[in-house]
Amino acid sequence: MFFSIMSGRSMHSILVGLFCLAIASAICCSSVGSSYFIRRCLESERHALLQFKQDLVDDSNALASWENMKDCCKWRGIACNNQTGHVTTLDFSFSYDPYLNSTEVPLRGEMSPSLLELRYLSYLDLSYNDFGGMIIPKFIGSLSQLKELKLADANFSGPVPPQLGNLSNLHTLDLSWNELVSSESIEWLSHLSSLRYLNMSDVDLSKVVNWPQSLSKLTSLIELQLLVCRLPDVNLRSLSFINSSTSLQVLDLSSNSLNSSVFHWIANVSNNFVNIQLSSNLLKGPIPDVFTSMLSLVALDLSYNQLEGGIPEGFQNLCSLESLTLLSNSLSENIIDSIKTLSCAENTLETLNLRENQFWGSLPNLKRFSKLRELDLSSNQLNGSLPESVGQLSSLEQLFLSENSLTGVITESHFLNLSRLQMLSLSDNRFSINLSSDWNPPFQLSGALDMSGYKLGPAFPKWILTQTNLTRLYLSNAGLSGLLPNKFWDLCSGLVYLNLSMNQIHGKVPNLSTTSLFRVDLSSNLLSGAVPSIPRRLSRLDLSKNLFSGPPSSLCTTLTLPPSNLYALDLSENLLSGELPNCWIQFQNLEQLNLGRNKLSGMIPSSLGSIQGIAVLRLNRNNFSGELPSLENCTSLVMVDLGDNNLSGKIPTWIGQSLIDLTILHLRSNEFNGSIPSSLCGLAAIHVLDLSHNNISGGLPHCFNNISVLAINSLYSTFIMELVWKGIEIEFGKNLLGMRSIDISSNYLIGEIPQSIESMTELISLNLSRNYLTGKLPENFGNMKMLESLDLSRNQISGKIPASFSRLNFLGVLDVSHNHLSGRIPLSTQLQSFNASAYMANLGLCGPPLTQICPGDGTAQDDGITRGSDTDNKEHDTDGLISLGFFISTALGFVTGFWVVCGSLLLKSSRRYAYFKFLDDSRDWVYVKTAAHRAKMERRLQRWMVMSFWHGV
Ligand SMILES: *[C@@H]1O[C@H](CO)[C@@H](O)[C@H](O)[C@H]1NC(C)=O
Ligand SMILES: *[C@@H]1O[C@H](CO)[C@@H](O)[C@H](O)[C@H]1NC(C)=O
Ligand SMILES: *[C@@H]1O[C@H](CO)[C@@H](O)[C@H](O)[C@H]1NC(C)=O
Ligand SMILES: *[C@@H]1O[C@H](CO)[C@@H](O)[C@H](O)[C@H]1NC(C)=O
Ligand SMILES: *[C@@H]1O[C@H](CO)[C@@H](O)[C@H](O)[C@H]1NC(C)=O
Repeated sequence: MFFSIMSGRSMHSILVGLFCLAIASAICCSSVGSSYFIRRCLESERHALLQFKQDLVDDSNALASWENMKDCCKWRGIACNNQTGHVTTLDFSFSYDPYLNSTEVPLRGEMSPSLLELRYLSYLDLSYNDFGGMIIPKFIGSLSQLKELKLADANFSGPVPPQLGNLSNLHTLDLSWNELVSSESIEWLSHLSSLRYLNMSDVDLSKVVNWPQSLSKLTSLIELQLLVCRLPDVNLRSLSFINSSTSLQVLDLSSNSLNSSVFHWIANVSNNFVNIQLSSNLLKGPIPDVFTSMLSLVALDLSYNQLEGGIPEGFQNLCSLESLTLLSNSLSENIIDSIKTLSCAENTLETLNLRENQFWGSLPNLKRFSKLRELDLSSNQLNGSLPESVGQLSSLEQLFLSENSLTGVITESHFLNLSRLQMLSLSDNRFSINLSSDWNPPFQLSGALDMSGYKLGPAFPKWILTQTNLTRLYLSNAGLSGLLPNKFWDLCSGLVYLNLSMNQIHGKVPNLSTTSLFRVDLSSNLLSGAVPSIPRRLSRLDLSKNLFSGPPSSLCTTLTLPPSNLYALDLSENLLSGELPNCWIQFQNLEQLNLGRNKLSGMIPSSLGSIQGIAVLRLNRNNFSGELPSLENCTSLVMVDLGDNNLSGKIPTWIGQSLIDLTILHLRSNEFNGSIPSSLCGLAAIHVLDLSHNNISGGLPHCFNNISVLAINSLYSTFIMELVWKGIEIEFGKNLLGMRSIDISSNYLIGEIPQSIESMTELISLNLSRNYLTGKLPENFGNMKMLESLDLSRNQISGKIPASFSRLNFLGVLDVSHNHLSGRIPLSTQLQSFNASAYMANLGLCGPPLTQICPGDGTAQDDGITRGSDTDNKEHDTDGLISLGFFISTALGFVTGFWVVCGSLLLKSSRRYAYFKFLDDSRDWVYVKTAAHRAKMERRLQRWMVMSFWHGV
């Protein structure tokens, strides 16, 4: 859903830019106006404004000027007609980006009908404030002078009032990014005959089957924005009634799951298109010919669809094209032909983005595309070498060629005239790099440089140190070793993203707290000394797999505000020692914390329990001791790994009561004692429960049947974690998604295995070995049909192995040795395939695979096996590996369905990741959240982009 925005990035920046300009000019004009105004504001209108303000909460005192000045025309956000003194403008959109001015927060409250007193109001903008989910009041329809009405992202909800259709003077209407739902009809829109700009993005239009006809009636419309509206597909038959050609120039229908029939509407609705955005839909097949008659087309974005074939020949007519963005489709064509098709645009084309397709062949000479600013051909199947003529593209600002099979030597002449280059990515090709360390590049990169994977070292290349304006530097796995030059750390102060992972860099990391760093990955190096101080702004820090030592106390600052932005902190696999500081209350944004595999000791600090949003907590393989602090408020926890420490005390009951999303709970190899609280059965989402190697006593809880549903939530969160934190995936295997494992081995459990265990039909691995369990095995033990690994050895279990064991068809690992079992081993395809040692040291087991013949047995063995197999389903007659795969794929199937709904965005996650790496390293996370929670996150993303825009990120 938000890829539309990503893909139209440059356009978006332009829009954002224009938008900011608009605001700036609005503010500017209002102040100019107010300094020249002739008439003061009218008392009745002043009164109305004050009443309007009364229903608002102004937390940051943004409307201070309303109290200090008598003349309401001078108030912030107000402008009047300089002849009549009537209030004409009410603009409260100044809070549109909290990141820009952190002291200012949106106004909250209700929209008062006193607005109706402002009878000459022609401009009303309440965007980016918080109206608490109230419905858009019908009375707005009575503000008959309104020319512009903007209520974007202002937390309105409910139906769109058709009374808006009374605003016959309206030329701009923006209702985007609220929680609005439209009824079946948007006929009211057709009364807005002057409407030129309409934005209803994120309004639920799923019931508006007639949208193509209704919108065709807006004959003055110039720009239409309907992103993420759940638009129903275009009914081709109804199109025959459309005979109007509107003046529509700009159309954005991104993220709507529309199929290719939308092209027919587009072809009919206007001849004047300048900009068409259709990214993240379900467009299939070849790119249609409809665009070839759109001679004014300047920008086209068809990203994130399933389009095939090449760029149609008709594109030869498009001589004004400035931006063509086709990223992430299944387009496949010799790149030479594609470029030839675009030859009419050779004097206009500025952006060509074909990333993530299957374009092949070698790159032609691009010299004639002299305006080209952004060239992104990453993640295709290009081969051959990079023509030196690329070095002649003197307008080029962004060059992305990563993830192809390009060969040859990259030399200084490839960059000869690239004096405007800002971003460069060559990673994941087969180039060899021949750039002298003393090279003086013609460019000053002000964006990103990605040379990951090329041997640039061992010394840090000097030419990179000349790039003092860099904001993102990716030199992962670049053969760098030794100390980093001091100059590098100067460079670092301006960097926003830094990745030097997988090198052999030595030495200490200086204090980073005054840098602009937002995301840092220095993992897998030889860095030592103390963990550096970090800036508040930092959102990800990965220092794992280094030689950092001492306690990580530099993370704590003495100042209390604002809280740290950190959401992922990985210091695992270092030599950290001593106690953890108790300052975690400063890290309210932390979602992932990994301090595993260090030498940390002492108690686990209680302030960890104040991080409400934490999802992943790993303190495994340290020397932590004492009891667990309460984490009962950390209700977002998905993974808790405290294994291999010296923690003691009882297993807290809050785990099962509060941590309802918990998917992985690892407490193995500690000194936990007492019995297993039955509240643990509240962990409906649990996939891996490991309490092994503790001092747990008492019986197994009798409530296992509660844990038997595969909770949908957990599926999401587990999946997210897989994406977000690869390490977990590597450690726990990809099958995390479906894995359901219980290990309580090596404790002091007594009593019987409760019958309720039979209902854990999804369980794949069960280990209760090395306890003091007694009694008989539950009769229907074999109901746990998915079991692939079962270890009950070294207990005192007696009686027979229940006949239902013959249903455990996926069993690949079995150990029931060292118990008091007796009687015949049931016959099945699996049970006899184990080594006899799986059954050894019992009281009196008999029959195959044991050599011990059961009393009264003749040679009836074969019969037995056949009988056993009779009860089986043929389809289950597969080995364990396949079954696990099957299980996982079912789970994945479910998630895939979810993806399709969301625009199938996650499928190629690693490539996405690479893409994000350039645009904004934080967005992969933001995106994942979007998928998991709601499209609403997009708004934050937009804000983020505004921020990025301003900060020149
Ligand atoms: C009054 O407003 C009109 C239109 O908004 C503008 O053209 C004119 O310059 C203004 N006059 C003064 C004195 O500000
Ligand atoms: C931020 O908000 C404060 C308080 O409203 C204001 O004084 C300041 O000028 C604003 N800064 C910017 C850059 O807008
Ligand atoms: C919208 O209003 C509701 C109700 O007051 C509130 O719970 C929610 O947090 C608000 N949403 C946003 C994005 O401000
Ligand atoms: C860095 O960027 C800024 C702003 O874009 C520019 O003014 C400055 O000249 C650049 N510095 C260098 C060394 O190019
Ligand atoms: C959890 O939150 C509740 C309610 O805010 C509070 O009373 C309690 O002390 C918190 N518990 C911990 C361990 O922080």
